[in-house]
Formats: sequence, C-alpha cells, structure tokens
Amino acid sequence: MAEGKILGIWDGHDAGAALIDAGGNILSAVNEERLSRKKLHSGFPHLSIESCLELAHAEKEDVTDIAFSTTDWTKTASRVFPIIADKYYLFRRRKIDRPHFHNLQRYLKFVLGQPTEPKGVLKAVNRAHITRTLRKAGFKKFRLHSVDHHIAHAAAAYHTSGMDESVCVTMDGLGDGVSSTVNYCADGKIARLGQTTAGNSIGIFFEQATTVLGMRELEDEGKLMSLADYSHKTGNKMEGLFSVNGLSIRAKLNPIAQYNFLERLAWRTPPEDFARMVQETLEKNILGLFSNAQEETGARKISWSGGIASNIKLNQRIRSHLSLKDWFVFPHMGDGGLALGAALFVAGNPQKKKLKSAYFGPGPKGQGEILDFLEKNRDKFSWSVNRKGRWQKEASEILSKENDYFFLFQGRMEYGPRALGNRSIVAPADSIEVKNKLNLRIKERNWYQPFCPSILATEAKRLFTDYDGIEDKFMTMGYSCSSLGEKRLAAAIHVDMSARPQMVGKENPEYMRLISTVGKSTGTGAVLNTSFNYHGDPIVSNIKEALEMQERTRTRHMFAEGIHIEFKGAGKRR
Ligand SMILES: [Fe+2]
Repeated sequence: MAEGKILGIWDGHDAGAALIDAGGNILSAVNEERLSRKKLHSGFPHLSIESCLELAHAEKEDVTDIAFSTTDWTKTASRVFPIIADKYYLFRRRKIDRPHFHNLQRYLKFVLGQPTEPKGVLKAVNRAHITRTLRKAGFKKFRLHSVDHHIAHAAAAYHTSGMDESVCVTMDGLGDGVSSTVNYCADGKIARLGQTTAGNSIGIFFEQATTVLGMRELEDEGKLMSLADYSHKTGNKMEGLFSVNGLSIRAKLNPIAQYNFLERLAWRTPPEDFARMVQETLEKNILGLFSNAQEETGARKISWSGGIASNIKLNQRIRSHLSLKDWFVFPHMGDGGLALGAALFVAGNPQKKKLKSAYFGPGPKGQGEILDFLEKNRDKFSWSVNRKGRWQKEASEILSKENDYFFLFQGRMEYGPRALGNRSIVAPADSIEVKNKLNLRIKERNWYQPFCPSILATEAKRLFTDYDGIEDKFMTMGYSCSSLGEKRLAAAIHVDMSARPQMVGKENPEYMRLISTVGKSTGTGAVLNTSFNYHGDPIVSNIKEALEMQERTRTRHMFAEGIHIEFKGAGKRR
C-alpha cells in the first residue's frame, strides 16, 4: 500500500502521466501530445510528469510509488530501441515514406505482440530500463510497479465506475499478448474470468480495415464507423471471420491472411459498404461477448474500457441490448488512459464515487495570466472583462444573433480525447451554415464525419428516444434522436439521426450556465461542441496556443476565463 503519491506513466502510443494520492483520488493527469504538440506522442512522458507534479504542488520526493504497464516483446523492443517507435510514429503520421520491409514490420508487430514469455526476463528488462529513465529524470527513491496492459485498462474503468460488484470488459488491438478480457470486480479487486489472445484480435481487424480504406490506423477508426452509416446495402462478406466462444473471441484467419482478405474485398466494394460490413462484424461479435459475460455472471453493472470502447455505435447497441442497472465507459479508453489505470491499480481501493469530470490537466492561473498576454498583443486583439455570469449572455448572443461560433478556453484541460467545455469550439446546435464554416476554416472534416452536441443533462429525455437515465458526461455513447432532437440538434447529429452528446451538469458550472442561457433564447439547452484544435493538431493547451489559433483561423470571438477576446483581423481575407 502506498503511503505517498502514486505516479502512473505510459510511454507508448498517446503517452502520458497521472498522479493520484494513496486513497485513489485523482490529482492530475495529462497526455504528452498536449505539451509536446506532437499528436498522439509516443515516447517517455517527461513533460506530462512535470506537469502532473506541478498541478498537484508535489515534488518528486512525494512520489513513493510509480506504475507503468505493458512488457510484451513489441513494447520491450520499442523501449530499448526507441528508434523503432519513432520510425513507426513518423510513418503513421505520413511524415516519412513507407519504410522498406514495411510488410515485414507489420508482420513482426503482430508476431511479436503475441507471446509474453519469458515473463520474468521481459519484466526485468523493462523494469531496468524504466528505472534508469526515471532516475535520470530525478526520481531517487520509489517502488516501481509493472502492471499488465489489460489490468491497467480494467483498473481505469472499474475504479472510476462508482460500482463495487460488477463486470469490467476491456478490448483493444493488443497488449501483453491479449486483446480482450472479461473481469469480475468486487471489493477493489479485479479477477480475470476470460480473455482473447492477440492472434484473435477483433481490434486488430478494425485497425487493419481502417488502413485498407486508406485511413490512419490507431487514429481514424471513428471515421470508418461514421462512414458505415452511409451504406444502404445488406449482406456481409465478412461473415464468419470471427466467432464468440464463451468469454473469448476466435478469428478464422491469422492477422496477415486477414489483411490480404480485407485488401482484396475493399478493392471490389464501395468504401461505405466495406465500412458497414466491418462495423457490423465488430458489433455482432462484441455484443455476443457481452451477452455471454452477462449470462455467466448475472451482472447488471458493467464498466468498459480499451480502444474499442471508443466506438459509440457499438456502445449504443450494447446498452440497448443488455438490460443494465449501471453502465460506465471510461472516458480515456484507449492507451492514452493507461497511466491513470496503472496508478489506480496500485492504489487498489474501490472508488465508490463515479467519475463525474475529467478536468485533470493544466489550466490558466486566473484572468491575470491571460490579460498579461493580451497586453503584449494589443495590436491584434481587443477584449473586455465581464462581470461574473455576464460572459454567457454575450456568448449566447453570438450563437443566436450573429449566427457565429466562438472559442471557449477555461479551467483545467480535459483528460482524454474529448473536449468537454474547457477547450471547446462552440456553435449553434442547429445551424448548418455555421457547421459548414467550421469545417471550411478549421476542422476540414471528411463529409461523412458529424459534429456532436453538449446538452443540459436535463434535456436528454426529450432529445433522445433511447436515453436510459444513466448520464453520459464524456461523449462515449450514441443515442437516437427524437423528432425534437433531429430539429434542434440538426448541425450536431449523424446521417442516421443519432448523436454523441455530452450531458452537462454541475461538474462544469460555467459551461452549464452557458448552455442554460442558450436554452433560454432557443428553447433547447444545447450547443454544438467540437474540440479546440486546428485540423490534425492536438487540442490547445494554453492561452498562447489558443490566441495563435484565433489569429490563424481569423476567428472573431473567444471567451477565456470569462474575458471576451475579439480578433481585430476577423473576416479579413488572408
Ligand atoms: Fe490498449
């Protein structure tokens, strides 16, 4: 049991750090990409560690325990020879050409990702490497904990779910030789009931299908999901690629043969039909796994994490098929959340309270910091400091009277992929015109990718037909719109009339007040909310980046800690 603070670190895809106290309370958590400005940064999270300590006003000496995860062959190789991870990152982001022997590398990734033996040797190599790196970073005395990849995913979900006795399911591409687990959780303990080995991974299947469609693996899986809804055909040529056996999934083909099959099929299939077959295959098999887990354990409370848990259409289907009393999707479900999961596992105690917010990152030190910055940029910006509660009225009028959007920068940054009102771009929820402007100027989204709404939690019942009373504060779930929802959220829904809402309440009072003010003038407490970043960049972290983006996109309005900032060059052509 830790007596001091526990630091979790993750040094792979979407690296990051998290700091918690011995009681399992989250003090700070951030991902390296927000600080290094390298999207989905892979490598040791030096900046995140420093940021987490600073946010918690802690010193390195206060940390008694450090947790890291994953010691399979692939991760070991990339830790010891970081050039492997660097090259892969650069290729994935298309910064360099496809390396020679790319297919061999792909093959090795799958082959090496599967075996985890000899466990003792692999753990020792990883521990020695991480210890050396931490000592160089200034940590002197600490206990080092190596946490299994899927246990870290499970701990992240279970210890923040607010559930005691429950089932936790994890699923991703692969990690420590495994691609999915079903766990029984009680009294703060996680016991594995079943698993799927990496060679049978349905996550790898989804990743491969994304690549085959010419999209970025580990990044564009959500695009494939969105595209699938544009298919109007039936029939699935991927039928039989997977089957469910108890609490595990079986693949018919090995990952290499599967890739070749997908490539051939994609060549003769329209992309939307191909995407639909992939999504259907995913949904059918994972729903089968969840149903078996519920049948075997009788569980009516489920928590869910791992990269696949980001698939909101799948989540909607699971939720509507299983009769559940409680249901929780960990908001930073991918590997970016492993740092917090590993730390929570070491703390080990059940967090009885459900995670209500994810504002664990850095934020401005009050209005003074922003005003100092503005003073230095008087030629570009004008501003006004509003009385408390006043900025929401001005902001609401920008949406309703000017039919425009604005940037919103306030408080501590969100942990996880979603902007939840602290680093957000806010627009009217029903204006297609503003939505198109956003796409043209800032987001450059594919035509089939929808925007999403933030709504008052109290509006969920009348905007969605399948709202089950379990509030989703983190945009992890799809819901079907009612006829009112279709109308009022017209700019923030998908082609199939579903939406991925953030249900806002007291966890973010400033944002809640904004949406209620909007509701007073439009009749519906809802806005379009998209992340505050330029197409392809990480979400902005500090006021400097926020103002740079305002200038770059020639956006007129930003509200930063209640200060209304106007860009003087807005509307002028570049
Ligand atoms: Fe993972």
